[in-house]
Amino acid sequence: MSSNLTSKILILDFGSQYTQVIARRIREFHVYSEINAYNTSAAKIKKAAPAGIILSGGPASVYSPKAPQLDQQIYELGIPILGICYGTQLIAKDFGGQVERSVHREYGPGILRLKSSPTGPQTRPLFHGLPSEIEVWNSHQDKITVLPEAFQTFGQTENSTNAVIGCPEKNIYGLQFHPEVGHTPLGKNLLENFALKICKCVPNWTVESFIERSCAAIRDQVREGRVLLGLSGGVDSTVAAALLHQAIGDQLTCIFVDNGLLRAGERSAVKELFADNFHIRLKTVDASKNFISKLKGVTEPERKRRIIGNEFVRVFQNTAQELQGRSSSKHPFRFLAQGTLYPDVIESVSIAGNPSSLIKSHHNVGGLPSWMKFELVEPLRQLFKDEVREVGLKLGLSKELIYRQPFPGPGLAVRILGEVTRARLRILREADTIVIQEMKSSGWYYKVWQSFAVLLPVRSVGVMGDERTYENTIALRMVESRDGMTADWVRLPYELLAKISSRIMNEVKGVNRVCYDISSKPPATIEWE
Ligand code: XMP
Repeated sequence: MSSNLTSKILILDFGSQYTQVIARRIREFHVYSEINAYNTSAAKIKKAAPAGIILSGGPASVYSPKAPQLDQQIYELGIPILGICYGTQLIAKDFGGQVERSVHREYGPGILRLKSSPTGPQTRPLFHGLPSEIEVWNSHQDKITVLPEAFQTFGQTENSTNAVIGCPEKNIYGLQFHPEVGHTPLGKNLLENFALKICKCVPNWTVESFIERSCAAIRDQVREGRVLLGLSGGVDSTVAAALLHQAIGDQLTCIFVDNGLLRAGERSAVKELFADNFHIRLKTVDASKNFISKLKGVTEPERKRRIIGNEFVRVFQNTAQELQGRSSSKHPFRFLAQGTLYPDVIESVSIAGNPSSLIKSHHNVGGLPSWMKFELVEPLRQLFKDEVREVGLKLGLSKELIYRQPFPGPGLAVRILGEVTRARLRILREADTIVIQEMKSSGWYYKVWQSFAVLLPVRSVGVMGDERTYENTIALRMVESRDGMTADWVRLPYELLAKISSRIMNEVKGVNRVCYDISSKPPATIEWE
């Protein structure tokens, strides 16, 4: 199998909440896609030589003074371009058409009617294999009122006469609706037609080719240096470890830090899973006292995350020094490896200056201290979660490990609202154990993205036996998601919820109330902090 990526699609991000979804969709048909800032220069793009460019949607209006613009030279590169929503309006404006604020905001489902050509719409490469009427998802206020001269209209929706525009001679097209979202069921075919039929991409973004290239890149970066990897027992760090081990063997040492913020039995579970899965050097460090004392009195979520991030790095640096002192190798631990994923990068920092704002500093991205001496190795930085799982399976990791639910780096600390104390950790740990047990025994654990308990900083009155109680509240958070970027709460059977709730109230001392979180993401997030 080829290890060269012969073609890729470059997505220029104008700030749409769906930009990452576009990248995912494209990778689903094995074409590599990458997101760059909207203001990437034509020269840089020419050097990167993508087979096609997609201009994403975005919140701005093309005429507003601060509207993000495209380097006009990009239109001269001869690379096929597809605009989506804002991207389409920008194309229309840049080629001399007109975009205006529409009286009706077009939001939600609609029907796209493709214009018939003498040979039928399906003969055009973009619409290959598609029917002449398609369900689409709209989310726009502006619309194209005057087409640029060189362009034609290929389709319309109820409120947009120019819902699909194109200039086939230049291979520039635009869609007013969102082909990337699930609500446009045939949207993936449109993107696939653009990538394969118009851009002539070779679909060779496969798990095998990723592993091959990634190992080569790791060897290139690390050379003879040694790498420490903070292993959490979650999918991401474990797959990163397996990949690094394949690339550099014994130059890798993994550290499992017991930070006192872990779920019940996690430390031994990780040791066991690891021993069953591969023979990598693993060192366990008990740093729970340090973490918990540093968190004393801290209630602000971002401060908690920063403290935990700093503490992790301190442990890594101290351990590196200690290992170095005992080792005969002359090569120092110069590198720290992390299982950082694409969505972590996207939500925590703005990608190459795109306008997205910080929501939470995921500790493995945003919270690293400036005094850290390591260089980072992040082999999964370009991958979405399901791609990571595929890589893990290909590397021979067990399904049990690969389909473990995600668990955040800062652990139970971000599920204890308010101060983290040993007493409150005990309550949450016990409630969490019941949630996992019941989700597993009912068969729901592997059907959902995440299911966990959250300890709220709220006490309420209850009655137990004949006595008044005034105790803590647990919230249950069960969500389904494809990649953690958006999520919805799970419609669990009432009987299961009832069982979890009554077990928590009966078995966990200090809890007299259980609530179910029915918020989707957005506007909520999955974790409460
Ligand atoms: P949110 O709460 O941002 O979570 O909707 C999205 C996904 O990311 C996980 N998460 C983290 N993972 N370090 C991690 O490795 C973190 O600091 C962190 N915070 C959230 C969360 O569990 C969910 O799957």
